[in-house]
Amino acid sequence: MIPFLFQAACQARDIVARRLPRAQELAQRNLSHEPAGCFAIKRGRSVSKSSELKARKAAAVPSGVGSRGVYVAKAENAELWDVDGRRYIDFAAGIAVLNTGHRHPRVMEAVAQQAQAFAHTCFHVAPYESYVRLAERLNALAPGDFPKKTLFLNSGAEAVENAIKIARYHTKRSAVIAFSGGFHGRTLMTLALTGKVMPYKRGFGPFPAEVYHAEFPQPYHGITTERALEDLDRLFHGDVDPKAVAAIIIEPVQGEGGFKVAPADFLRALRRLCDEHGIVMIADEVQGGIARTGKMFSIEHSGVVPDLVVTAKGLGGGFPLSGVTGRANIMDAAHPGGLGGTYGGNPISIAAAHAVLDVVEAEGLCARAASVGDKMRTRLLALAKQLPCIGDVRGLGAMVAFELVKDPKTKEPDAELTAALLVQAESRGLILLSCGTSANVIRLLAPLTIPDGVLSEGLDILSAALLAAAGRESARAVA
Ligand SMILES: Cc1ncc(COP(=O)(O)O)c(C=O)c1O
Repeated sequence: MIPFLFQAACQARDIVARRLPRAQELAQRNLSHEPAGCFAIKRGRSVSKSSELKARKAAAVPSGVGSRGVYVAKAENAELWDVDGRRYIDFAAGIAVLNTGHRHPRVMEAVAQQAQAFAHTCFHVAPYESYVRLAERLNALAPGDFPKKTLFLNSGAEAVENAIKIARYHTKRSAVIAFSGGFHGRTLMTLALTGKVMPYKRGFGPFPAEVYHAEFPQPYHGITTERALEDLDRLFHGDVDPKAVAAIIIEPVQGEGGFKVAPADFLRALRRLCDEHGIVMIADEVQGGIARTGKMFSIEHSGVVPDLVVTAKGLGGGFPLSGVTGRANIMDAAHPGGLGGTYGGNPISIAAAHAVLDVVEAEGLCARAASVGDKMRTRLLALAKQLPCIGDVRGLGAMVAFELVKDPKTKEPDAELTAALLVQAESRGLILLSCGTSANVIRLLAPLTIPDGVLSEGLDILSAALLAAAGRESARAVA
């Protein structure tokens, strides 16, 4: 997420300043090879539009709002161009939002048409058919052969908040179980659910009570399904009565936590526990949903049917929209007027979402996610043979990540190398994102519509950037 970008940018800046004094110089040399319109370097001082914007941002925007250095001027599918005319391949997709790419023509057309009709009424004041139809579509798409209902909101965090509200109302219980390393947003309740202190939670408490964290399985670090289930058992015996738990919320593939995939047997065990104790099972599909992993919802890989599914990001194709879809009897628990908001399910975003779902179907984006992911994995596994710093390659579909370690045996995280790789990639024209609880995982989130040529060009840049960053790191270690 953005703080990650900020954290990584700060780390990269520190490396540039303290550890890799030639990084800036090399980056500038690379940039100077780019086509006209890039940086003008006068007496070693950059006077690019990007630099000017960075300075203005620092003066006008709070430093808590992190951002990287690429100030965008235009974007198309999997590429974007900055204000200095420099081209980038986008392996971030606005943090898993642009599964259908930047400015997909069908999404743009739907938005333009809706803008001609009406832009806002507030669904509670003057409702519209497109909201109801999108609810019908999500009810049909979400896992589970039972009646469902959908509520629309604006952001992922807002949808998670509403899923918890609904689960509490339905069960008349208050406790919620989330997982270590999980990320669910930046509002106070979603921060309580989030299982990572920096950069998200520090300094922002107190958070709402009655939230408990259990271990998320991560076989690479020795946390098996069995161990994670023992941890839940510990929680149920030591901290919270399962009969007081309203909901268990889980990302079937952790996003910010480092693209850890919850094993199917773990998800099945959670389902059983929820059934046994009357707990609402919530799948947070904000990052992993809408075809990203090769299925419409990432939990479908396990065959487990959750009670509620939270969507956002990819659903709106770049326009703010989120939803909670779930069992009709649970969704209907709250009293009339208890759910909603001024902008939730605004007509423009709803129009974009209809187009997104049409594109996912028409362009076979679930199958495309699988093939994009395969190409990424093949390349990364080949690189891992050359570079022992790649400790693990993992993910599902086109939600692919690799973990960078100092030593493949100890698996000690290498956050510095990760930050150096981000710098190297950006200077070569590739936008990458890091993640992971130790800031040592690189995640690849290219649009699913990325052409094969652009994908392999991006992977070439990634390989070169990693070789350069790793080479420099080992040179530094030797020195
Ligand atoms: C799994 C997950 N849940 C919730 C959120 C919060 O979404 P938003 O930033 O739209 O509030 C995110 C954002 O990255 C996410 O990855």
